[in-house]
Amino acid sequence: MYYWDVISPCSVFCLFADAVVSHIQMSGVVGQPVTIQCIYSIAGGVTAMCWGRGPCSLYSCSNQLIKTDGHRVVFQKSKRYQLNGPISKGNVSLTIKNVTQADSGTYCCRVESSGWFKDLKINILLEIKPGEFVFCLPLITSGG
Ligand SMILES: *[C@@H]1O[C@H](CO)[C@@H](O)[C@H](O)[C@H]1NC(C)=O
Ligand SMILES: *[C@@H]1O[C@H](CO)[C@@H](O)[C@H](O)[C@H]1NC(C)=O
Repeated sequence: MYYWDVISPCSVFCLFADAVVSHIQMSGVVGQPVTIQCIYSIAGGVTAMCWGRGPCSLYSCSNQLIKTDGHRVVFQKSKRYQLNGPISKGNVSLTIKNVTQADSGTYCCRVESSGWFKDLKINILLEIKPGEFVFCLPLITSGG
């Protein structure tokens, strides 16, 4: 089970992609996958994008986690970072497998410019909450 607070940041922000940096918060649970939604409109063409750790910087993805050429993944820092949406349809949502509390922090979804629009930059603050711990106690049966 996983949670997200935001369905599609782009439905709000892509129209104003020029220089807009939006800030979104979401949460996940230790040990489970988390999907951070990032979707852009392909009306202006399919473009390269990247996900970085830390807030979006001016020109590039710092601490790059995964990168596409628009149609497929061309760099993947670890197998934990996956793009499972239809990339060439603009769904570049990032799935992080086996999250730990160390995965908490800011992520940047950056879609490269098309035309004279500036890059679309979305900062997402991810908070990973401790999971529930389940203890299996030995069942004690009285012999008899
Ligand atoms: C996630 O953790 C499980 C169990 O520790 C492991 O088998 C699996 O390979 C991990 N998946 C990834 C993508 O790291
Ligand atoms: C985008 O892809 C993710 C998987 O990465 C999926 O969970 C999500 O439902 C997709 N969103 C849309 C709007 O298709």
